[in-house]
Amino acid sequence: MKFIYRLLATLLITSGMHSALAENVLVIRFSHVVAPESPKGQAAEKFAQLVAQRSAGKVRVDLFPNSRLYGDQEEIAALQMGNVEMLAPSLTKLKVLHVSEFEVFDLPYLFADTAAAHRVTQGTIGKIMLAKLDSQGVVGLAFWDNGFKQMSANRPLRKPSDVAGLSLRIQPSQILEAQMKALGAKPRALQFSEVYSALKSGAVDGTEGPSSNFYTQNLQLAQKYLTLSNHGYLGYAVVANKKFWDGLTPEIRSTLEGALSDATTFANESAEQNNAAALESIRKTGRTQIIELTADEKSAWHTALAKVHHQAQGKIPAELMANIYRETSGSATSASLR
Ligand code: LMR
Repeated sequence: MKFIYRLLATLLITSGMHSALAENVLVIRFSHVVAPESPKGQAAEKFAQLVAQRSAGKVRVDLFPNSRLYGDQEEIAALQMGNVEMLAPSLTKLKVLHVSEFEVFDLPYLFADTAAAHRVTQGTIGKIMLAKLDSQGVVGLAFWDNGFKQMSANRPLRKPSDVAGLSLRIQPSQILEAQMKALGAKPRALQFSEVYSALKSGAVDGTEGPSSNFYTQNLQLAQKYLTLSNHGYLGYAVVANKKFWDGLTPEIRSTLEGALSDATTFANESAEQNNAAALESIRKTGRTQIIELTADEKSAWHTALAKVHHQAQGKIPAELMANIYRETSGSATSASLR
């Protein structure tokens, strides 16, 4: 089925490109794995609209959501090969580019809130990290938020010990593996597109992710409980194929940069609201019970996960960790973990 879809998509792209060529329109293929209504889907649509307006139709951004063109295991190779021009993978997934630094974002309770995350992603540390992608044929252009991850399962998870023994889906990451093991769970790395069916079939017991991804993937049909653990951050890097980006005329590049800067402001101002609305929608379905933790319960989760920061030493450059801790020292959460 997927093969047929891809074949159709390729034919569509090719015919779209031919008509674009005839009209002298520059087409940017932007692939991603989440739903159009999710924070990343909405930000990508904003970018596409702004580019169309500001280039007066000379540049068109074609969006391919929901892993329709490439799943998360394939999309970065497709970008490097020039089969798509832009992506916004989660920061975790950039590890295939051999820049393990990005796994730092998987550390539990790294940021106390969105403002703390922005001090890193929108500041000097973020700029230095994006520049590291250059040597891999990829231009790092911006950081977009999704938000904070929640933990779900078919039994209520109030205390860290409630998680013990469950098999939980993670994105491929040594840090996320350590995080799940710290809770006594069995981590299982799966592509995003496989999560719903793996939960529905019982191949895994639970997962973690922001409420927007939970709701737009219909996980309320497969998970009875969602704990508002806010135990980790999920964000994205907007990236482009370097050869494509460097080959743009200065005028088009500056139009794209302006549109991306405004789409980034939109992304980072609207993601929190998008997640809050998704949580309300989950509540309204009446299928998944939402569990709010007391202050004592929250602190038990912090304590159980603190050791993951120590285990990350040696996996993530010490200087990067120190710089992030320094930048977020106003953040009570990360400070208390050290
Ligand atoms: C995940 O795999 O859970 C996320 O990276 C999906 C996404 O892009 O938000």
